[in-house]
Amino acid sequence: MKKWIKLTASAAAVGMLMTTAACGSSRGESGTKSSQVSVGISMPEQQLERWQIDGNNLKKKLESYGYKVTLQYADGKTDLQSSQIQNMANNGVNYVVIASIDGTATGSAAEQAKSSGAKVIAYDRMVMNTNAVDYYATFSLTEVGKMQAEYIVNKLGLKDGKKGPFNVELMSGSPTDNNAKYYYQGAWSVLGQYFKSGVLQSKSGKVPKTANDYRSIGIDNWDQQKAQNEMENRINSFYSRGTNHLDAVLAPNDALARGTVQAVQSAGLNYYPIITGQDAEQASVQDIVKGEQSMTVYKDTRKLADTTADLIKDLVDGKKPKTTSTFPNGNKNVPSIMLTPVSVDKSNVKKEIVDSGYMTAAQAGL
Ligand code: BGC
Repeated sequence: MKKWIKLTASAAAVGMLMTTAACGSSRGESGTKSSQVSVGISMPEQQLERWQIDGNNLKKKLESYGYKVTLQYADGKTDLQSSQIQNMANNGVNYVVIASIDGTATGSAAEQAKSSGAKVIAYDRMVMNTNAVDYYATFSLTEVGKMQAEYIVNKLGLKDGKKGPFNVELMSGSPTDNNAKYYYQGAWSVLGQYFKSGVLQSKSGKVPKTANDYRSIGIDNWDQQKAQNEMENRINSFYSRGTNHLDAVLAPNDALARGTVQAVQSAGLNYYPIITGQDAEQASVQDIVKGEQSMTVYKDTRKLADTTADLIKDLVDGKKPKTTSTFPNGNKNVPSIMLTPVSVDKSNVKKEIVDSGYMTAAQAGL
């Protein structure tokens, strides 16, 4: 916190000068030459393939419009992300695109960017509890959770009246990520009724009473190793050979799905349960092809990058960006663009992932 205050104070003078120079108006208004437009992109981390692809796609697209782009990754550290955003603001960027590690923690940095005259766009994850966010672009969050849950329901034949009871283990995403809440709400809106009727159960007992208690089964930082440890514990305690059959695991993204696959292997189960995922990362697409992970929710990051870049271009050109809805951030309803994700398993992996050019057949393991 102290470090932040120092940085803010030392940067304030520069920020004030810049605001004055801009005569209090937003930079990058209509009539601006594209080479004068600068955009700062703040990505959460590089460990996960998806953020590397997001960052590169977005940078490339914005540069194709002639804008100057600074792309920074925050290594999963909230303080680092805030200071990177503050530096971008101090360097006079016109637009800041933020994919937060912790949407609440980035609020103050977003406010600083806003007060230095930049427009703030929340990317994939909302920046919470501040009026500083101008726009939000993401994939429909609840839809991701619904698709994962519906996959489990369909594969277990619950809509055909199968009564089980089936054993399903649940995880949710990082407790600091606002998205985790919406994914779990989506999943629970489908699975909740079956847990209530007893058709689904969890031998570990780790079933939040309501969707709002999702943090109790959250995996910090969406960490693959933590998911693996968690699932190894549950499998060893409740599903080791000769005891209960593990029918499905709700793994909210591909990293957690791969952790689950590892846990299944190291705990020595001689079968794979249904395992969900999200992001269509290369390693997980290959696991789907091999039959180890069952499905993923494919969010074409090229589309999210294009949408965000076009939103910025509209603002530069003085046009009002087309939004699809608004999304609450605790302070305001932020004008938002919600893209539609696609459920992918072995049956449509070639069509959706390879034929669309997202990956080559070799990368997909086909
Ligand atoms: C994103 C997911 C991603 C997860 C972990 C979420 O906010 O929406 O696509 O898998 O973060 O990085």
